[in-house]
Amino acid sequence: MRTYLVTGGAGFIGSNYIHYMFEKYGGDIRIINLDALTYAGNPENLKEFENAENYTFVKGDICDRELVTKIFAENDIDRVVHFAAESHVDRSIVDPGVFVQTNVLGTANMLNCARAAWEKADGSYPEGKRFLHVSTDEVYGSLPEDGGYFYETTPYAPHSPYSASKAGSDMLVRAYMDTYHFPANITNCSNNYGPYQFPEKLIPLMINNALHGKKLPVYGDGKNVRDWLYVRDHARAIDLVQEEGKLFETYNVGGHNEKQNIEIVEIIIDTLLEELPVDDPRRANVSRDLISYVEDRKGHDRRYAIAADKIREAVGWEPETCFKEGIRLTIRWYLAHGEWMEHVTSGDYQKYYESMYANR
Ligand code: NAD
Ligand code: DAU
Repeated sequence: MRTYLVTGGAGFIGSNYIHYMFEKYGGDIRIINLDALTYAGNPENLKEFENAENYTFVKGDICDRELVTKIFAENDIDRVVHFAAESHVDRSIVDPGVFVQTNVLGTANMLNCARAAWEKADGSYPEGKRFLHVSTDEVYGSLPEDGGYFYETTPYAPHSPYSASKAGSDMLVRAYMDTYHFPANITNCSNNYGPYQFPEKLIPLMINNALHGKKLPVYGDGKNVRDWLYVRDHARAIDLVQEEGKLFETYNVGGHNEKQNIEIVEIIIDTLLEELPVDDPRRANVSRDLISYVEDRKGHDRRYAIAADKIREAVGWEPETCFKEGIRLTIRWYLAHGEWMEHVTSGDYQKYYESMYANR
C-alpha cells in the first residue's frame, strides 16, 4: 500500500485533495496528514475519515525537524504532497514574518527531512519516491489587462510578501532538484474555489456576507482579473502530475476562466438568488446594493492568467468543471453547510474581519 504524507491537509485545497484521493483510491492508499491547525486548518473538513485505518492525523508544524524526521522514520513514505503554507495575501501585507517562517523555512525543513529519509549512499533515490510542492501563479507577478499569459518559463516577479515567500519556497525546491537530483515536481496553480474555503478569500467571503446582508467589499475598481479553477480539478491535476508527470518538471495549472472581481461578485449574488428557496429568510438580505467599493489592496496584482498547455500535453489534464457549474456547486455547498461557516467565523475570525475591513 502506497503511503502519502500530506502537509496542510486540514486546509481548503488539502482537505479537498484528501477527499478526492480517498474517493479515487479508497483503501489502496494510506494518508498521513501533518497540519499545525492554524486559523486556516479545520479538522471538521475531514471528520468522515477520522476513524479510518488508512488515515492518520498528526497535529504539528512543518518547521519541526524532530517531528518530521520521526514521521519519515516510522513510516515508509512514498509520496509527499506539500500544501502547508500561510496562504492569504492580505494577511501577508499586515504580518509578513510568519509567511517567511512557514512558507520558506517550513518548505526547507520538509525538503531536508525527505532528502535525509530517501537519499541513498550513492546519491540516488529509490524508485517511486516523489515530492510535490504545491505553489501558486502569483510568483509570476502581474499581467497587463490587455493580454499575455503565465508560462512555466515566465520569470518570477512576486509583489506581495505571500507571493515572495512562495517564490522562495519554489526556488528551494528547484535548487534541491538541481543540486541533489531530489525527486520533485512543482505545480503553480491559479485561484481555486469550492467547498471548505475559509471565508477570508473572495468567493466564500462574498457568499457569507451576502447571506447576512453585510456589505460586499470590492477592492479598488473591482476590475482585477483572476483565473478561477474549481478545487477538485486542482486535486486531480496534482494526482496526475505525481502519477504521470515527468520528474523535475514544473507544471502550470489554470482554469481558462478569467473574470474580473466585480463579475464574480455579481454572479454570486445572482446564483444565490436562484438557489435560495423563496421562503428562506436569508433571501431578503441578498442584493447588488450590498456592493461597496473600498480602498485597494496594497501592491494589488492586476491580472493573472495561466497557460496550461504543458500539463495538458504531458498528462492530458484539463479543467472539467466550468465556472457556471462550479460556482453553483460551491454555493449549494455553503448553503447546506451553515454550521461549518458558523464554526469558522466565530471567535478569532470576527476580530480578523474587524481589523481588516473596519477602516477600509
Ligand atoms: P489554507 O490557508 O486554506 O490551508 C493551509 C493549511 O496549512 C491549513 O490547514 C493550516 O493549518 C496549515 N498550516 C499552516 N502553517 C502550517 C505549519 N507551519 N505547519 C503545518 N501546517 C500548517 O491554504 P489553501 O488555500 O488550501 O492553499 C494550500 C496550498 O496551495 C498553499 O501552499 C497555497 O500557497 C497553494 N495555492 C493556493 C491557491 C488558492 O487559490 N487557494 C492557489 C494556488 C496555490
Ligand atoms: O492565484 C492563486 C492565489 O489565489 C493563491 O496563491 C492564494 O493562496 C489565494 O489566496 C489567491 O490569492 P488572491 O489574492 O488572488 O485571492 P483573494 O481571494 O484574496 O482575492 C481575489 C481577488 O479579489 C483579488 O483581486 C482581491 C479581491 N478581493 C479580495 C477580498 C478578500 C476583494 O475585492 N475583496 C475582498 O474582500
